[in-house]
Amino acid sequence: MRVYVLNGPNLGRLGTRQVDVYGATSYADLVGLCEATGRELGLDVTVRQTDAEHELVGWLHDAADERAAVVLNPAAWSHYSIAVRDACALLRGPLVEVHISNIHAREEFRAHSVVSAVATGVICGLGVDGYRLALHHLATRADAAR
Ligand code: DQA
Repeated sequence: MRVYVLNGPNLGRLGTRQVDVYGATSYADLVGLCEATGRELGLDVTVRQTDAEHELVGWLHDAADERAAVVLNPAAWSHYSIAVRDACALLRGPLVEVHISNIHAREEFRAHSVVSAVATGVICGLGVDGYRLALHHLATRADAAR
């Protein structure tokens, strides 16, 4: 199963960015964790990060064309980007939305994600382990489809 792990703005700064909120794992370590989990589960995992909204929309279009599964941390775009939500709604494979922090226990403006209504499921507040759990879930679905 092809899986895109897509990350929105500022997530490239993981490891130095608000370590008390997002933890000490660097973005490079996160990429390594997702790739290692993909290998372990037999998933074809591609990990990407962008600070440019149009780039994320393009990657979501590609995932839709390929009927691929997506693990998406839309970061700040979660809270206001209708363009990202609409691109997510085009997907034809499962979409797991991941947030490293518990968005419900922070500022009020973070509690609502415009993406969640079009996601298959949402994981938040479990740190970078959320990505590993999302990939495990997708592997289970891939098994069920066989
Ligand atoms: C985040 C939460 C968002 O509110 C924030 O803008 C991020 C990261 C998370 O992973 O916890 O950049 O999506």
